Amino acid sequence: MATDIVYLNGEFMPLEEARIPVLDRGFIFGDGVYEVIPVYSRHLFRLPEHLQRLQHSLDGIRLANPLTDAEWTKLAHDIVARNQGDDQSVYLQITRGVARRAHEFPGHVKPTVFMMSSPLVTPPREQVEKGVACITATDFRWLKCDIKSVSLLGNCLLKQLSVDAGAAEVVMFRDGCLTEASASNVFVVRSGVLLAPPKNHLILPGITYDVVLELAAANKIPLDVREVPEHEARTAQEIWLTSSTREVLAVTSLDGRTIGDGKPGAVFRRMHALYQDYKQTVMRRAA
Ligand code: PDD
Repeated sequence: MATDIVYLNGEFMPLEEARIPVLDRGFIFGDGVYEVIPVYSRHLFRLPEHLQRLQHSLDGIRLANPLTDAEWTKLAHDIVARNQGDDQSVYLQITRGVARRAHEFPGHVKPTVFMMSSPLVTPPREQVEKGVACITATDFRWLKCDIKSVSLLGNCLLKQLSVDAGAAEVVMFRDGCLTEASASNVFVVRSGVLLAPPKNHLILPGITYDVVLELAAANKIPLDVREVPEHEARTAQEIWLTSSTREVLAVTSLDGRTIGDGKPGAVFRRMHALYQDYKQTVMRRAA
């Protein structure tokens, strides 16, 4: 197997050789932000939008962006070129850097900048065709879920609940309304209308979420971006998960109860096809 090549603080190197000091604030405090960018046929999907969200996350933790968008773009292309496989998943992370342990921000410390790429693993065909089971949980995370922070302990604890239950994801509610899942956004369909929780501090503004909303609007799928009460989600005809790695995936059971008729619904099938077409179009344009 070919060695993964990663980027760390100005240099490319094999993954095995990449090292960071134990006092890195990412390790000590989870003080950093990240992005995950899907790559199809060596084309970085929606890179400008990912860089825009990165800036939002950096602003949210008051950390200056160490690179310009042009530098990020070049770096991301370099990482893709140096790694194998046409479909990849590029991960980048910035932390506040290395400093003696103290909660407050250190002065004049260089941020740690890391980028790697792994093979993109999208859901197997069977999952797309049959849908997945999910469980639910109370969303106990903090109130800045719009920041793509590396402090993911809440998300990890929640995700593990679904793994323990043999489910694919955990759909979360806060104060009686749907938020998102541990590593994906959530949509529901009721009476043919696609409902999406609004982008605010309670959810990550997903890049895939935006693509789905754009495709729904362009294809006249009735759409309502509003708070979704828990009972509306639980009794929806369709529930979907979206993320850069999951793309669009149907949830066919929630806490053991069947959603719709237990198969991915008609609106999902339409959106899944639109999403695949859109990907092809974007890649053709980039080629
Ligand atoms: N996660 N919500 C959460 C909490 C997420 O972690 C993610 C993505 C999303 C979907 O965002 P996007 O469509 O931009 O991928 C929503 C990534 C894939 C991860 O952490 O690996």
